[in-house]
Amino acid sequence: MFERPRSGERSLLLHVGVGGSCRDDEIEEFRALALSAGADVIGEVRSRLARPNPRLFVGSGKAEEVAQLARETGAELILINRALTPSQERNLEALLKVRVLDRNGLILDIFAQRAASFEGKLQVELAQLEHLSTRLVRGWSHLERQKGGIGLRGPGETQLETDRRLLGKRIRRLKSGMERVLRGREVGRRERRRSGLATVALVGYTNAGKTTLFNALSGADLEARDQLFATLDPTIRRLSIGGGEQALLVDTVGFVRDLPHELVAAFRATLTETRDASLLLHVIDASDPHYEDRLRQVEDVLEQIGASDVDCVRVYNKLDRASGRERRELAAAENAKTGVSAKTGEGLEGLTDMIRARLNGKPVRGQLRLGPEHSRVRAKLFDWQAVRHEAPDAEGGWTMDVELTARRWRELCRREGFSTDDVRSHTRHEA
Ligand code: GTP
Repeated sequence: MFERPRSGERSLLLHVGVGGSCRDDEIEEFRALALSAGADVIGEVRSRLARPNPRLFVGSGKAEEVAQLARETGAELILINRALTPSQERNLEALLKVRVLDRNGLILDIFAQRAASFEGKLQVELAQLEHLSTRLVRGWSHLERQKGGIGLRGPGETQLETDRRLLGKRIRRLKSGMERVLRGREVGRRERRRSGLATVALVGYTNAGKTTLFNALSGADLEARDQLFATLDPTIRRLSIGGGEQALLVDTVGFVRDLPHELVAAFRATLTETRDASLLLHVIDASDPHYEDRLRQVEDVLEQIGASDVDCVRVYNKLDRASGRERRELAAAENAKTGVSAKTGEGLEGLTDMIRARLNGKPVRGQLRLGPEHSRVRAKLFDWQAVRHEAPDAEGGWTMDVELTARRWRELCRREGFSTDDVRSHTRHEA
């Protein structure tokens, strides 16, 4: 069996550009990922390929160069900025005599270190085992061929079968654990819906400042660290949005370019929070020279997870670091963009007002037919000072002209089970 070399922290980074050189921001991002995982970066190598080599991913000349550098520097780990197939990973390790980790493995490792809640830990372990199981199956397939050979027949089973069976069992256990957690979360979500509070979810590229903004807006004291993916569990707080109104604020996991598929699936819970929110605040690091590229990456992920229909506001954060010119550009942009500094508190009041306005929307006029059994609803509408006109009808009920925000209309219809026949003209505003 192939013995993998031991791992360590002294790392060489291998930046491979396919079809051209790696861009500087990609290099910086991969370096930041490595540092976030706790790597001690002792050297970096760049390479350019027209297309990946099926055996080693990189060309054999480049692999030799890396092997030599690894020997000279005493590197314990080679981190490569691409996704490798299990066999490429194995072939490279055999050649370099050093442990190799691809970008997906690196991100999984960071997630594993950061997961804090029970749910987060389950999710990460599941993603890791699923990642590993593809490697077991394909990586060790040559062993399988020995099954049934001389001395291997009979009741004995190969190590591979045992490992695979144990892995399968653990994955099934974790999945059923996850199902229970997800059911619990669903109950929580239903309760929140019943409370009638709107949910505002913070999304954004990793390190954009979501957790800092979450703390600043809600007064919570979560840890904000200058590390990627500091947040792995969706965290929820009540948020006062002025005018006596409250909403729920949800912090979510940071997005990153080409998030591995295993992780998108594993972080279903946090992503569901995003899809179900009434409003998304897309937090953007305005001091990042590549923010436009990153905001598009985030919008792509939002689309992939089916959240592109949710009302979304871009919030330009870290204004304290932006230059005078950048500030003027933001202010002069169409609809003056929402600029804030989660750190200094600048712009937060304006942001809260904006959240309130977006959640409540403009008042919408509609006509409602209430039967005599709806006297409680009628009293509530008067309570809300929403009634503009009413006329009693022959059956003891009322026809009422009512003005409510779109959100309250939706709430009222949902709670009272009104159909579009009960409510006339307002429905066209709902879309
Ligand atoms: P992930 O958990 O990786 O998704 O990150 P995040 O988006 O939650 O970012 P976080 O709030 O952890 O902030 C990342 C870094 O940016 C931290 O060092 C913060 O102190 C810093 N930061 C956040 N907001 C501001 C700001 O308004 N101004 C400045 N100068 N720094 C900020």
